[in-house]
Amino acid sequence: MKIINYEENFFNEINTLQQSQWGEGSDTDEIFNNIENYYIKISIEENELIGVAIYHLEINNKIIPKNEFEIIKSNFNKTKNLKSNELSCFIDFIIIKDKFQGQGIGSAFLEYIINFSKENKCNFIECEAIEVYGIINSKKLLQKFNFEFQDVFENYWGKKCPNFYCKQCNKKPCVCSMNKYKKFL
Ligand SMILES: CC(C)(COP(=O)(O)OP(=O)(O)OC[C@H]1O[C@@H](n2cnc3c(N)ncnc32)[C@H](O)[C@@H]1OP(=O)(O)O)[C@@H](O)C(=O)NCCC(=O)NCCS
Repeated sequence: MKIINYEENFFNEINTLQQSQWGEGSDTDEIFNNIENYYIKISIEENELIGVAIYHLEINNKIIPKNEFEIIKSNFNKTKNLKSNELSCFIDFIIIKDKFQGQGIGSAFLEYIINFSKENKCNFIECEAIEVYGIINSKKLLQKFNFEFQDVFENYWGKKCPNFYCKQCNKKPCVCSMNKYKKFL
């Protein structure tokens, strides 16, 4: 298994993987329309896509496009404009193909994102974990890397995207709750 940067020829496979887990019409469709904002890593084995991780950087809850961040980064040492506690990383999602789950690939992605965030002087990493009928799929993974539970928001995606048919809860609108997790660096 290796982790590589997103390549366009994997677009359809990523879409299929994403839809197989979440369903159609979720707000994740928006990511590929604004791809300049997102860091996308894929894991492949013998040319088969087996997982994807998507994350982005924020300053005070506002997304920073990747090219803008490169400019900010090049000025890190020259200016004192950016207070370190303003910069954070947000994990949009990590999805591993069903038959490859439980083999450490999610952990490898998370390790990668934690290192990336540390190297880029982020103050914390945030993510939104789906809770389906009381079960949070990614809880063990997040706890393993010392993410802390922050808060729970009921019917979160159902309210945000009423036309989203969710494959996790099998409802439209989705009735899953969102559990916010945070790791300070
Ligand atoms: C959650 C997910 C990303 C974890 O990825 P993974 O590659 O299976 O994770 P790992 O193999 O690195 O395992 C990490 C921990 O999670 C636990 N775990 C693995 N698969 C799991 C599953 N399907 N359900 C619950 N816990 C699981 C393991 O016990 C492991 O802990 P350990 O290493 O101490 O034993 C993956 O199961 C997945 O894609 N799920 C569906 C989509 C999803 O819910 N994504 C997360 C929200 S964005």
